[in-house]
Amino acid sequence: MARGIAVVVGASGGIGRALAEALAGDSAYNVVVALSRRRPAGWNRLWISVDTLDETSLVNAAAALRSEGDLTRIIVATGRLHGPGTLPEKSMRALSSDAMMAMFAVNAVGPALVAKHLLPLTPRDRPSLFAALSARVGSIGDNHLGGWYGYRASKAALNMLIHTLAIEHRRSRPLGCCVALHPGTVDTALSAPFQAGVPAGKLFSPAQSAAALLRIMDGLGAEANGGFFAWDGTTIPW
Ligand SMILES: NC(=O)c1ccc[n+]([C@@H]2O[C@H](COP(=O)([O-])OP(=O)(O)OC[C@H]3O[C@@H](n4cnc5c(N)ncnc54)[C@H](OP(=O)(O)O)[C@@H]3O)[C@@H](O)[C@H]2O)c1
Repeated sequence: MARGIAVVVGASGGIGRALAEALAGDSAYNVVVALSRRRPAGWNRLWISVDTLDETSLVNAAAALRSEGDLTRIIVATGRLHGPGTLPEKSMRALSSDAMMAMFAVNAVGPALVAKHLLPLTPRDRPSLFAALSARVGSIGDNHLGGWYGYRASKAALNMLIHTLAIEHRRSRPLGCCVALHPGTVDTALSAPFQAGVPAGKLFSPAQSAAALLRIMDGLGAEANGGFFAWDGTTIPW
C-alpha cells in the first residue's frame, strides 16, 4: 500500500506537537514533517523552520518538501488567542487595531499562505486532506455569548478562506479535501488563562484532542471538502 507524507504546521504548539507525535506512530505515513518557528522539543524527525507570516520561509519549505514526494495530509495547527499585554476583548471598548491585526494575521492570513504554498504539493490522482485548526467560537451561527471579537472574527475569516480554497482545490484535485476543524477545549498555553470555567471532563489533553482529530480526519473524504467539523465529527454551523 502506498504510504503518505504528513506535514504539521505549528508543530511546536500544544495540539500541533501532539498531532505530529500521533502521526509519527501511524503506519499510514512513512514521513512526518514538523514545520514551526522553533524545533519542537524532543522532535528528532524532519523539521523545517517556518513562520507562516514570512512567505519566503514557506517558499523554502515547499521546495524542501517537494523533494520528499506528494503530501497526503497537511495540518495547520498555528493560532493566537492572546499575546504579551493582549487578552481577548470582553467589550467593544477593548478593541485595538494592533491586537486585531495580529489576530487576523496569525489566525487567517497565515493558514491561507500555507495553503497557497503547500496545497500544490498534494497528489492529483489520490486522496489528500488539508485541515486547518479553527475554533467553534469562529461560528457566527453558534455565537450566543459575544466577546472575544478579534479571535472570533479571525477564525470566521479563516473558515471563509478554507471554504473558498476548497472550491478552487476541487477543480485540480477532485479527490482532495480541505476542511476547518474545532479541536475541543484543550489544555495548552493558548487556553491556559481561560480554563477556570471549563466543566469537569470537558478539558482535553493535547493527546486526547489529537487522537479525536485524527480519527475524524481518517474518515473525511472528498465529499467533506469545504466543511467545518468538531473533534467528535459533528458539523458546526458557519
Ligand atoms: N487550545 C484550545 O482549547 C483550542 C480551542 C479551539 C481552537 N484551538 C485552535 O487550535 C490551534 C492550536 O492551538 P494550541 O492550543 O495548540 O495553541 P498553542 O499551544 O499556543 O500553539 C500555537 C502554535 O501556533 C504557532 N504560531 C503562532 N504564530 C505563528 C507564526 N506566525 N508562524 C508559525 N507558527 C506560529 C506557535 O508557534 P511558537 O511555538 O513559535 O510560538 C505554536 O506552535 C489554534 O489554531 C487554536 O486557535 C485551540
